[in-house]
Amino acid sequence: MTAVRVLARADELATHSAWEDGILRAYLTPEQSRVNAIAAAWMREAGLRAWPDEAANVCGRRLRDDDDRPALLLGSHLDTVPGAGRYDGILGVLVAIEVADRLRDADLPFALEVVAFGDEEGTRFGATLLGSRALAGGWRDSWLDLTDPDGVTLRDAATLFGLIPENIASAARAPGSVIGYLECHIEQGPRLEAQGRALGVVTTIAAAERRMISYRGEARHCATPWELRHDALLGASEAIIAIERIARDQGSPATVGRIRVEPDAVNVIPGFAEFSLDLRDGTAAGRDATWGLIRHELQRIAVERGLDLEVTSTHAAPEAPCSPSLRAAVAAGIRATGDADPIELVSIAGHDAMAVADLTEIGMLFVRCAGGISHHADESVREDDVAAAIDALEAAVLHLADQHR
Ligand code: GLV
Ligand code: MN
Ligand code: MN
Repeated sequence: MTAVRVLARADELATHSAWEDGILRAYLTPEQSRVNAIAAAWMREAGLRAWPDEAANVCGRRLRDDDDRPALLLGSHLDTVPGAGRYDGILGVLVAIEVADRLRDADLPFALEVVAFGDEEGTRFGATLLGSRALAGGWRDSWLDLTDPDGVTLRDAATLFGLIPENIASAARAPGSVIGYLECHIEQGPRLEAQGRALGVVTTIAAAERRMISYRGEARHCATPWELRHDALLGASEAIIAIERIARDQGSPATVGRIRVEPDAVNVIPGFAEFSLDLRDGTAAGRDATWGLIRHELQRIAVERGLDLEVTSTHAAPEAPCSPSLRAAVAAGIRATGDADPIELVSIAGHDAMAVADLTEIGMLFVRCAGGISHHADESVREDDVAAAIDALEAAVLHLADQHR
């Protein structure tokens, strides 16, 4: 029953999109404002006192927790990538609300809160996990100068949204006010499905780094002979293929998802090409070792083609291990659903939990998604898996409550 409600709510949130055809919901947009209001209303129905924080996250605390006891946070995010599915992040928020609803009258040794983060994906401003980093005390005012693809600064977007840009940092929770953070999320990979499991325990979230890489050559007429060309796009193309080869050899997932060329004309040799690189690995050391090999190759290509290379890092996060006690709680939660031997997974995908790890212990519960497909409209989950996820997260909270008594 509650799983049916979660799926219906995910369908409803999916209608709040900047695109008519496909889902796009970025930080500090009118779409976010609408889903924040809806999520706050659902939190209130679930017996939570709901409020928007200074960073445009929506928080909800059980009405009965009207004291300053430290809280266990349950959460995930409501923003999306362009062309998203309807469950990445959203499922975790909706499952958390169901669990809070079920536990509204439970006698717990800690307060219980739900948090719906406003920016995990970094779709609009490039930097990622802005909502969760603000809550965890990692907000930097220098981010106010970041711009979106239309040149709007984060400062102006925040003001238009109704925030006070200089106050965003005060969304930070005091370290002693939180005892832990649990996040339920679709797996975004095929491993649970391949093993015939609905749920899994996350051990660690992989280290990640995002960079913008550019080659500058010379824009010239396409009549220019080969030996006189300094084609930035050919340099970028060779680099992208090299990145695939090196990253595959090293076992570090790498993605070039964005590319831009200047002057972007059919009969002009590209004088400038810029592309993104998202590089991940189970450990920061592994990620950095792979980057060292890539960097060497980027430089070799620059010299060989007579191009200037520039690299800027836009986001870096070390691996974020889930704590032993929250891993045990998630495993106990899964066992309560009838899976006696829950499987453990490393998350290659990034999550709000990575940012919250700077504040408190983290734990994550993964839910099977069809074909492992995510960041795509075909993202899908089974109703019985969602039901199991709600049961497991509730049981995990109760397990933690027993540990804290
Ligand atoms: C978010 O989905 C990420 O893994 O980048
Ligand atoms: Mn995502
Ligand atoms: Mn996500």
